[in-house]
Amino acid sequence: MNNLLIEISKLGTPIYFYIKEKILENSRKLKENFKDVEIYYAVKANFNPEILKIFKDENFGFEVVSEGELKLALKTGINPDKIVFNGNGKTYKEVKFAIENGVSIFNFDSVDQLLLLENVAIELNKNIKALARIKSLVDVETHPHLQTGIFTSKFGLNDEEIDEVLYISRKLKKVKIVGIHSHIGSNIKDEEPFIKSAYRVLKIAKVFDNIEILNLGGGFAINMNFKELPKLYNELSKNYRIFIEPGRYLIADAGFILSQVVSIKKGYPYDFLVIDCGMSELIRPALYGAYHPIKTLKGNLAEKFYIVVGPICESSDVFGEYLLPNMELNDLVIIENCGAYGYSMASNYNGREKPYEILIENSTYKIINTKKFL
Ligand SMILES: Cc1ncc(COP(=O)(O)O)c(C=O)c1O
Repeated sequence: MNNLLIEISKLGTPIYFYIKEKILENSRKLKENFKDVEIYYAVKANFNPEILKIFKDENFGFEVVSEGELKLALKTGINPDKIVFNGNGKTYKEVKFAIENGVSIFNFDSVDQLLLLENVAIELNKNIKALARIKSLVDVETHPHLQTGIFTSKFGLNDEEIDEVLYISRKLKKVKIVGIHSHIGSNIKDEEPFIKSAYRVLKIAKVFDNIEILNLGGGFAINMNFKELPKLYNELSKNYRIFIEPGRYLIADAGFILSQVVSIKKGYPYDFLVIDCGMSELIRPALYGAYHPIKTLKGNLAEKFYIVVGPICESSDVFGEYLLPNMELNDLVIIENCGAYGYSMASNYNGREKPYEILIENSTYKIINTKKFL
């Protein structure tokens, strides 16, 4: 592997690489656990067309949140029936584009977004299905910015709004509310919040007529140890179509960034190790305080603590403190768990070009995205 990484580094660092075998392993683990569940990959996690193709070939549907994501999903050749259009601020243009292109399942989480769906569906004379996103009111142990189901969250309908949706639902002509949706957050390691959320979704589903779909969202952490949850979801599938929308679980630990040391300088309490990857390539540490393991090509020697930082002109461009071998200029480092919300959140900040993306399969690589200039 080291020789392959050295070869890849010659394309220019920082550089993203993904291991296809790991993506397939994650996908199959999920399918084995959730046999009776429909899996919609959350495109926002990583929308590289080659990655989307892998998930399409695994028979997953797609969860999209914008016209751009929808276009990428459609380009894989997927049947639009296998796309769920989510998002709390869909525009008229996006909804029209989606309906015109055959998408028929939409999540909504406000009364005006429901009416937007109805108005566009009437204009295009198409019948569509809608899923009401609720607040599960489940407090999860994750970064506050990754919580999405609590009372104060911008996502989901509150109880008053649910009453209004119920009232309006009887008057809708082209939209049928056929499902309840919840997504409680991301990077959740414990099954319990998902179980609690599923029961609340079920309770609200019973208040509506015609509920066929329970969309129980995404949010599984990588290496999640599934025990009770698959049993519950598979059991619920006897009465409903059950959807899940995982992103991170499927792709995070299959993606890495290869980066190079560009400077080492005195720091307190440890020396700074400046690498050529920063928050413009991987914003998660700055945005969520996310910790990404960092390895070197020098084996497992643990000789010295460093504060690993990027080259971006922001004080928050810091990966954290790491115990590493003794490092020298131009040494390569591998940043782990970068496959989800890595490249898809990358920017050109500080006038930097976006990195290449590489897919490794059977120990050979292919370039799946070239550098993007401003
Ligand atoms: C509605 C919805 N579904 C699914 C996901 C995917 O979450 P994860 O990547 O944590 O599985 C997200 C992520 O933000 C989301 O907002």
